[in-house]
Amino acid sequence: MEISLSTDIDSISWEELARLFELAPLGKKRDPEKLEIAFRNSLLKVFAFHDTKLVGAGRALSDGVWRVVIYDVAVLPEYQGKGIGSTIIRHLVQSANVEVVMLYAAPGKEAFYERFGFRKMKTAMAIMPNPEERREKGFIESGPTTRSH
Ligand SMILES: CC(C)(COP(=O)(O)OP(=O)(O)OC[C@H]1O[C@@H](n2cnc3c(N)ncnc32)[C@H](O)[C@@H]1OP(=O)(O)O)[C@@H](O)C(=O)NCCC(=O)NCCS
Repeated sequence: MEISLSTDIDSISWEELARLFELAPLGKKRDPEKLEIAFRNSLLKVFAFHDTKLVGAGRALSDGVWRVVIYDVAVLPEYQGKGIGSTIIRHLVQSANVEVVMLYAAPGKEAFYERFGFRKMKTAMAIMPNPEERREKGFIESGPTTRSH
Protein backbone atom coordinates (compact mmCIF):
# COMPACT_ATOMS: atom_id res chain seq x y z
CA MET A 1 0.00 0.00 0.00
CA GLU A 2 1.44 3.33 -1.07
CA ILE A 3 1.16 5.83 1.80
CA SER A 4 2.49 9.35 1.40
CA LEU A 5 3.22 11.91 4.10
CA SER A 6 2.35 15.56 3.66
CA THR A 7 2.90 18.68 5.76
CA ASP A 8 0.77 20.84 3.48
CA ILE A 9 -1.85 22.18 5.83
CA ASP A 10 -3.68 24.08 3.08
CA SER A 11 -4.73 20.86 1.36
CA ILE A 12 -6.54 19.48 4.42
CA SER A 13 -10.29 19.08 4.70
CA TRP A 14 -10.91 19.80 8.38
CA GLU A 15 -14.23 17.93 8.24
CA GLU A 16 -12.32 14.87 6.96
CA LEU A 17 -9.76 15.22 9.76
CA ALA A 18 -12.55 15.56 12.36
CA ARG A 19 -14.09 12.34 10.98
CA LEU A 20 -10.70 10.62 11.20
CA PHE A 21 -10.41 11.47 14.91
CA GLU A 22 -13.98 10.33 15.49
CA LEU A 23 -13.41 7.01 13.74
CA ALA A 24 -9.87 6.32 15.14
CA PRO A 25 -11.24 7.00 17.83
CA LEU A 26 -9.35 9.76 19.62
CA GLY A 27 -11.01 11.82 22.32
CA LYS A 28 -14.29 13.64 22.06
CA LYS A 29 -15.90 14.77 18.81
CA ARG A 30 -13.86 17.63 17.34
CA ASP A 31 -15.14 20.87 15.90
CA PRO A 32 -13.45 21.16 12.45
CA GLU A 33 -12.88 24.91 12.91
CA LYS A 34 -11.09 24.37 16.22
CA LEU A 35 -9.07 21.51 14.71
CA GLU A 36 -7.86 23.86 12.01
CA ILE A 37 -6.80 26.46 14.61
CA ALA A 38 -4.99 23.82 16.69
CA PHE A 39 -3.13 22.36 13.70
CA ARG A 40 -2.21 25.79 12.32
CA ASN A 41 -0.88 26.82 15.73
CA SER A 42 1.26 23.66 15.96
CA LEU A 43 4.77 24.15 14.59
CA LEU A 44 4.91 20.56 13.37
CA LYS A 45 2.11 18.66 11.67
CA VAL A 46 1.99 15.68 9.40
CA PHE A 47 -0.75 13.99 7.41
CA ALA A 48 -0.74 10.50 5.90
CA PHE A 49 -2.59 9.88 2.65
CA HIS A 50 -3.56 6.77 0.76
CA ASP A 51 -3.87 8.32 -2.70
CA THR A 52 -6.11 11.31 -1.90
CA LYS A 53 -7.70 9.81 1.21
CA LEU A 54 -6.59 11.20 4.58
CA VAL A 55 -5.77 8.14 6.69
CA GLY A 56 -3.58 9.45 9.52
CA ALA A 57 -2.37 12.61 11.22
CA GLY A 58 -0.30 14.01 14.06
CA ARG A 59 0.92 17.36 15.35
CA ALA A 60 3.40 18.75 17.84
CA LEU A 61 4.05 21.98 19.71
CA SER A 62 7.71 22.93 19.69
CA ASP A 63 9.90 25.74 20.97
CA GLY A 64 12.25 24.89 18.11
CA VAL A 65 15.24 24.52 20.44
CA TRP A 66 14.76 22.25 23.46
CA ARG A 67 11.27 20.89 23.89
CA VAL A 68 8.43 19.44 21.87
CA VAL A 69 5.07 17.96 22.84
CA ILE A 70 3.25 15.57 20.51
CA TYR A 71 -0.56 15.51 20.29
CA ASP A 72 -3.35 14.04 18.21
CA VAL A 73 -1.70 11.04 16.58
CA ALA A 74 -4.45 8.97 14.95
CA VAL A 75 -4.91 6.53 12.09
CA LEU A 76 -8.19 5.36 10.51
CA PRO A 77 -9.13 1.93 11.95
CA GLU A 78 -8.87 0.07 8.63
CA TYR A 79 -5.34 1.47 8.17
CA GLN A 80 -4.10 0.71 11.71
CA GLY A 81 -1.42 -1.95 12.21
CA LYS A 82 0.29 -1.12 8.90
CA GLY A 83 3.08 1.07 10.24
CA ILE A 84 1.42 4.43 9.54
CA GLY A 85 1.26 5.50 13.20
CA SER A 86 4.95 4.64 13.59
CA THR A 87 5.83 6.66 10.50
CA ILE A 88 3.93 9.66 11.90
CA ILE A 89 5.70 9.45 15.28
CA ARG A 90 9.15 9.06 13.70
CA HIS A 91 8.50 11.98 11.38
CA LEU A 92 7.46 14.25 14.28
CA VAL A 93 10.38 13.18 16.50
CA GLN A 94 12.96 13.57 13.72
CA SER A 95 11.68 16.87 12.40
CA ALA A 96 11.41 18.25 15.95
CA ASN A 97 15.15 17.66 16.39
CA VAL A 98 15.17 18.69 20.06
CA GLU A 99 16.43 17.17 23.32
CA VAL A 100 13.15 16.27 24.98
CA VAL A 101 10.01 14.98 23.27
CA MET A 102 6.95 14.59 25.46
CA LEU A 103 3.43 13.29 25.02
CA TYR A 104 0.72 11.73 27.08
CA ALA A 105 -0.55 8.43 25.81
CA ALA A 106 -4.16 7.35 25.73
CA PRO A 107 -4.48 4.68 28.46
CA GLY A 108 -3.42 1.34 26.93
CA LYS A 109 -1.22 2.97 24.25
CA GLU A 110 1.90 3.29 26.42
CA ALA A 111 3.56 0.19 24.93
CA PHE A 112 3.14 1.61 21.43
CA TYR A 113 5.16 4.70 22.43
CA GLU A 114 7.77 2.75 24.39
CA ARG A 115 8.90 1.27 21.05
CA PHE A 116 10.23 4.70 20.08
CA GLY A 117 12.08 5.24 23.37
CA PHE A 118 9.36 7.10 25.29
CA ARG A 119 9.44 6.39 29.02
CA LYS A 120 6.86 7.16 31.67
CA MET A 121 7.64 10.35 33.57
CA LYS A 122 7.42 10.32 37.35
CA THR A 123 6.65 13.98 37.81
CA ALA A 124 4.55 14.94 34.77
CA MET A 125 1.56 16.99 35.94
CA ALA A 126 -1.40 18.60 34.23
CA ILE A 127 -4.40 20.75 34.92
CA MET A 128 -7.31 19.00 33.21
CA PRO A 129 -11.03 19.65 33.02
CA ASN A 130 -13.27 17.07 34.76
CA PRO A 131 -10.45 15.54 36.83
CA GLU A 132 -12.77 12.87 38.26
CA GLU A 133 -13.69 11.66 34.76
CA ARG A 134 -10.01 11.78 33.72
CA ARG A 135 -9.07 9.76 36.77
CA GLU A 136 -11.69 7.11 35.94
CA LYS A 137 -10.37 6.91 32.37
CA GLY A 138 -6.84 6.34 33.65
CA PHE A 139 -5.22 9.65 32.70
CA ILE A 140 -4.45 11.04 36.15
CA GLU A 141 -3.89 9.79 39.66
CA SER A 142 -6.24 10.68 42.44
CA GLY A 143 -4.73 13.48 44.34
CA PRO A 144 -3.31 15.57 45.75
CA THR A 145 -0.87 12.99 47.13
CA THR A 146 2.21 15.09 47.84
CA ARG A 147 3.15 17.78 50.34
CA SER A 148 4.55 20.99 48.97
CA HIS A 149 7.30 21.02 51.65
C1 LIG B 1 -2.14 4.35 18.26
C2 LIG B 1 -2.19 4.43 16.73
C3 LIG B 1 -1.91 5.85 16.28
C4 LIG B 1 -1.12 3.49 16.17
O1 LIG B 1 -1.13 3.62 14.77
P1 LIG B 1 -0.87 2.34 13.82
O2 LIG B 1 -0.74 2.83 12.44
O3 LIG B 1 -1.91 1.30 14.10
O4 LIG B 1 0.53 1.88 14.41
P2 LIG B 1 1.59 0.95 13.69
O5 LIG B 1 0.95 0.11 12.62
O6 LIG B 1 2.72 1.80 13.29
O7 LIG B 1 1.97 0.04 14.93
C5 LIG B 1 3.29 -0.21 15.23
C6 LIG B 1 3.34 -1.34 16.20
O8 LIG B 1 2.80 -0.94 17.46
C7 LIG B 1 1.89 -1.92 17.89
N1 LIG B 1 0.84 -1.29 18.66
C8 LIG B 1 -0.19 -0.54 18.22
N2 LIG B 1 -0.97 -0.18 19.26
C9 LIG B 1 -0.37 -0.72 20.37
C10 LIG B 1 -0.69 -0.74 21.75
N3 LIG B 1 -1.78 -0.14 22.22
N4 LIG B 1 0.15 -1.38 22.60
C11 LIG B 1 1.25 -2.02 22.13
N5 LIG B 1 1.59 -2.06 20.83
C12 LIG B 1 0.77 -1.42 19.98
C13 LIG B 1 1.34 -2.54 16.63
O9 LIG B 1 0.88 -3.84 16.92
C14 LIG B 1 2.57 -2.56 15.74
O10 LIG B 1 3.35 -3.69 16.04
P3 LIG B 1 4.20 -4.47 14.92
O11 LIG B 1 5.14 -3.43 14.33
O12 LIG B 1 4.90 -5.53 15.70
O13 LIG B 1 3.19 -4.96 13.95
C15 LIG B 1 -3.56 3.92 16.18
O14 LIG B 1 -3.82 2.65 16.70
C16 LIG B 1 -4.73 4.84 16.50
O15 LIG B 1 -5.03 5.78 15.77
N6 LIG B 1 -5.43 4.56 17.61
C17 LIG B 1 -6.59 5.36 18.00
C18 LIG B 1 -6.18 6.76 18.40
C19 LIG B 1 -5.15 6.76 19.54
O16 LIG B 1 -5.34 6.09 20.54
N7 LIG B 1 -4.06 7.54 19.34
C20 LIG B 1 -3.00 7.63 20.31
C21 LIG B 1 -3.31 8.64 21.31
S1 LIG B 1 -2.08 8.70 22.55
